[in-house]
Amino acid sequence: MTIARQVLRGGLDLIEALLGKVFPPAWNPLLNLGALGFFFYWIITVSGIYVYIFFDTGVQNAYASIEYMTHEQWYLAGIMRSLHRYASDALIIVMMLHFVREFARDRYRGVRWFSWVTGIPIMVMVFVAGISGYWLVWDKLAQYVAIVSTEWLDLLPIFGEPIARNFMSPDALESRFFTLMIFMHIAIPLIALAILWIHLQRVTKPRINPPRGLALSVFAALIALSLVHPALSQAPADLAVVPGRIGLDWFYLPLFPLLETLPGSVTWGMSACLLLIMVAMPWLPPLKRAQPAKVDLANCNGCARCFHDCPYNAISLVARSDGTAFEREPIVNPAYCVSCGLCAGSCPTSMPFRRLSDLSPGIDLPDHTMAALRDETEVAARGLTGPARIMVFGCDSGPAVADVRSPSVGIVPLTCIGQLPPAFIDYVISRDLADGIMLTGCRENSCNARFGIEWTKQRLARERDPHLRNRVPRERIRTAWVGPSGASSLRNALSAFATELQNAAAGTDPTAQFDHSPAPREPVDA
Ligand code: HEM
Ligand code: SF4
Ligand code: SF4
Repeated sequence: MTIARQVLRGGLDLIEALLGKVFPPAWNPLLNLGALGFFFYWIITVSGIYVYIFFDTGVQNAYASIEYMTHEQWYLAGIMRSLHRYASDALIIVMMLHFVREFARDRYRGVRWFSWVTGIPIMVMVFVAGISGYWLVWDKLAQYVAIVSTEWLDLLPIFGEPIARNFMSPDALESRFFTLMIFMHIAIPLIALAILWIHLQRVTKPRINPPRGLALSVFAALIALSLVHPALSQAPADLAVVPGRIGLDWFYLPLFPLLETLPGSVTWGMSACLLLIMVAMPWLPPLKRAQPAKVDLANCNGCARCFHDCPYNAISLVARSDGTAFEREPIVNPAYCVSCGLCAGSCPTSMPFRRLSDLSPGIDLPDHTMAALRDETEVAARGLTGPARIMVFGCDSGPAVADVRSPSVGIVPLTCIGQLPPAFIDYVISRDLADGIMLTGCRENSCNARFGIEWTKQRLARERDPHLRNRVPRERIRTAWVGPSGASSLRNALSAFATELQNAAAGTDPTAQFDHSPAPREPVDA
């Protein structure tokens, strides 16, 4: 499982990097898969409603009504039909990529099981809804799909009478059965939408809308495809004749040839095993779980920053219980906490300058505390030499920072870059522990803990609490959002940064001169 994850991660990371060269970071389609899924869902809904207006639900006239839309009213109903078809195909692509990507990024185990497990019925329903859509056209392909799927369903003892009988002869198929199919085709996506809502319950501020530019481009591409290559029906169904050669849709029906050829016991067995494995995956193999974040009320002033910054809805605010004057206190739900550390990075009491008392913030990760982070920073700074000493703070999901350690480069690994309170940057610079700071991690919009990069950028830009203090010279900070395969980009960024720092120190870069004398000491235990 681990090897499969690593191989897929490497492949997807490469595609992400390639797409990153074509699209601006916010537009990268691979980083917007869930949001694109919703976008395609809305296109399918609107085009489906329009097509339904002209669709004749009776078995006799269904085919003719679709032919009318395709050929007579090609300029609107025809385009809507094509949009309905192509957006459905695109939904399969983004959904399967989203599924593989969440697996490859190991975002399905531990407390993240919930989004994974609720995703599985959605996946099944998208396929069933698509397959039922093919029936409604009532052409040769529909006839083939209807016969193969009902014969497959009849292998289970769930129906009183075999439903495949409906397709034995022209007289056997009743319009009532056809109406049932339409009902299913509408009801299943609605149920899927309700499950999608549940799917997102454990993520804060889910991105359900792609950036406008990406949405418009994708929509324009679908319209162009609909005009150049409109969706067409095959020859009309004829239950008196066995369907001969038919063109299959490889998005929704790739397994149909197998259903036809393999024995039913094998195909049902395989499907059940596949489903069971997918559902069980979050617990196979078990994830060594990091401890959830822990609140220390003695150091908490109830400011609610941790509550606002948690990406997984793991923190709630309740009435204060310790008799202090503060109104609220945070509590962590261990069942939701992924131990990303963003809350500790947001806590104003995560102050490395504190010396008189322990560095014990209001909220912290027991497995990687702020006190340990400060010790690691000081150890990494000790012995740094050269005219441009750089401290790299790097997230575990980003490039392997251990590879860039050198006599002039110290490294401090973090759970997520969002775990780093800006006060640490101030601390390193003001105590002259290094000349420059490099922050590195996942690619932009691709943060494993969802908001680590965004919150960090906002904290540095003083748009989000806790701010980076004004006194910290910004030219001493660089960021490299390069992802796990970006070690060489990080190396390049570090050597360019080292040159800039040296030039600034030598006074050859007039825009970047800075004072090398340590800043005045913070009042300890602020
Ligand atoms: C049409 C189908 C689907 C749509 C539209 C969809 C949409 C989304 C969206 C919008 C998010 C939040 C992303 C973010 O803001 O960071 C999400 C998260 C997630 N989805 Fe889906 N999803 C779909 C199907 C699936 C399937 C089939 C699976 C896997 C079985 C899955 C697994 C996950 C997981 C594990 C997360 C949480 C990631 C994390 O921990 O941050 N999804 N999905
Ligand atoms: S560690 Fe992450 S998931 Fe857990 S409470 Fe803190 S911010 Fe939320
Ligand atoms: S950010 Fe820190 S001080 Fe503020 S509520 Fe959370 S734990 Fe308390």
